[in-house]
This record gives sequence, structure tokens and C-alpha cells, in this order.
Amino acid sequence: MTRTGIRARPDAALRVEAERLFPRARPAVLRWFRKHARPLPWRAAPTGGRRDPYATWISEIMLQQTQVAAVIPHFKRWMRRFPDVGALARALESEVLRHWTGLGYYARARNLHQAARAIASRGAYPATAVDWQALPGIGKYTAGAIASFAFNFPEPVLDGNVTRVLSRLLGLCFLPGDGREESEAYWDLARLWARGRNPGDANEALMELGALVCSPATPHCEECPLALRCRAKARGWQTLLPPAKRRSLPENIAGVALVAIRRGRVLMELRAGSFLAGHLSFPLFLGEKRRMRKEMTARFPDMDPGSGEMLGEVRHAIMHRRYILEVRRIPVGASTRDAPTGMRWIPRKEFPEVLTNSLTRKIWNITV
Ligand code: ADE
Repeated sequence: MTRTGIRARPDAALRVEAERLFPRARPAVLRWFRKHARPLPWRAAPTGGRRDPYATWISEIMLQQTQVAAVIPHFKRWMRRFPDVGALARALESEVLRHWTGLGYYARARNLHQAARAIASRGAYPATAVDWQALPGIGKYTAGAIASFAFNFPEPVLDGNVTRVLSRLLGLCFLPGDGREESEAYWDLARLWARGRNPGDANEALMELGALVCSPATPHCEECPLALRCRAKARGWQTLLPPAKRRSLPENIAGVALVAIRRGRVLMELRAGSFLAGHLSFPLFLGEKRRMRKEMTARFPDMDPGSGEMLGEVRHAIMHRRYILEVRRIPVGASTRDAPTGMRWIPRKEFPEVLTNSLTRKIWNITV
């Protein structure tokens, strides 16, 4: 640790500090939680005891990629249609997917359905977090959340909210995603936090504190039960921690876009596969040079792959990829005249509707 009380890396003393701090911090956070927890529909315990495992599981899957406010109506509708694991297991997949509409990432719904069938055929819920994790769609966080919230097992949970609270509270200037040791240090702290009475509530309380008080940009430290113990607060660094994610360098992908124009019509392909699927685009050839040339020759057999007037270069970033495309105008020959498979000659006047993506618009702009 540095003299600022902030750690750039995990070290052995971190655990010792946490062992000293958590027994005092935990009851304070639990008291805060009992007073301020949001009454979310999946938190309602059917008989005043532990939460319902089915509702806990469904909500955790829905919350994986969707905000709490957006999940609430979906969760309520889902519970009316599939009130228990048996109802979900008996449903057709098409019905399950239909009820997932609006939540996106449909693999989650398929996994839920398969997991429900596995649970129903076994006749019991998994006993431990490790067993939950063996079901499709359930990772380490979700297994810990279900095992602790619904069964009160002292299993750790580590999500974005918990990471932020721990980083600030203990002055950790690193992230679980930085490496194996960093990840282990956070999970170790989360495990330590779950130890003791009411692990389920203690975990959910820490998440709720992260969601409501220890928020990313404007933390409400004046309302925080941990303010007096918080390293980041002591230095006034609460908005500097946790550190921003290190961005990995974008992947550069080279390619060629071909422009063929004939009697007011432009040769376009309907993209399939992963890049721009479903969009009309200028014929594109991406990736490694030799493969690209081979593909080009296969589609335009009478064309020399390196030929064509160079019109310019277009750069386009999508997510983590940066496409750097040579734009070449190609002569209309035997292979282009009858548009090759998957391509069509599109009248230029239809372009306002046809150019549905910005890469294709960029290419067209340097062409005309
Ligand atoms: N995000 C993930 N799990 C949650 C929960 N149980 N309550 C609120 N937000 C959550």
C-alpha cells in the first residue's frame, strides 16, 4: 500500500485489514439495508422467510444485462405465465422466447428453459453454488447470488456494485478484470464479506448500497453507513475509484470494398454472416490478404484482384474492431454484368433507403 492509503495491487495485508474492518462494517450495512432496501418484487419472501429460489433465479438472469426498472414489468409478467419451475419446464421453447421479448440476449431464455427442465427432471433445486453453476447460463456471480439470497449459504457475490463499494472502502486502485491475482483478491474479499450471520442479506445489502448510495459518478457519501471507514472518502477520491477499465486496443481489420456502377445502377451484396448481416453493402472482402484475393477471384473470376481505380480509404469502428477499407472502382465485365450470387444491381435513386448503415454511406460518399 502507498502512503495515500490506496493500493495499486493486491497484497497479503489486504485480507488482514478486511478481516478487521468487515465485522464492524457488516452490521452497519445490514441496518442500512433493512431501512432503505427497495421493495423489489423478487425480494418478497412468500412466507416471510427466505426468498423463493425460483423468483430469485429468474430475476438474477433477467438482471444480468438489463436495468432493474426495465426488469420489473417483465418479471411480473413472467411470473404470471410461468409461476414455478414446473410451468417453465413444461412450456414450449417458442412460448418461453415469446415471453422474453423486449429483454434481448435470447440465449438467456433458452438457458433458463433448459435449466428448468434439468431441475424438474431431478425434482429438486441444486444444493450448492457449485451445483447451480453446473446449469446452463449460470456463472459464478449468479450461483453465489441464488445460493446466498435464496438459501442463505455464505457464498460470495461480486458484481459491478460490489466491486465499486469494495474498491472505495478499501482503497483498491485495480479491478477484478486486471488479472488473476486481482480477481482472486476481490473474490476473496467478497467471500469474507459473506461470512457470518445472514450472508444472503449481507450480500444483497452491499449490492444495494452500491446501487443506491455508492453510485459511480455521484456517490451520496452523506448517506453512507461506511463513510467514516471509507479509504476513498478519506482522501476525497471517491469518484477516482474504482479505476476506469483499461481499454484493450482495437483490432484492425483490413479489407477492400468494390464499387461497380453501370447505367445508373450499383452492384450491391446482401451481407450474411457476422458483419453487417442483413444490410445491403458494396461487395466487401475482409481479412488476410491472400484469403481476400482468393475470395475475390472466386466471386469475380475475370477480374484481377489488385485491379480497379483506387478511390480512397474508409475507416470505420464498430465495438472493438476498426475496419480500414480500400475502396476500388471496378470495371463491369462478364462476371459483374449478371450480378454474382447474393448480389444485385440497385438503382442509384433507391440509395436513400438502401444505405442503411454508416459504413456503406461512407463508401458511397467517397465514390460520388
Ligand atoms: N442486480 C442483480 N441482482 C439484484 C438484486 N437482487 N436486486 C437489485 N439489483 C440486482
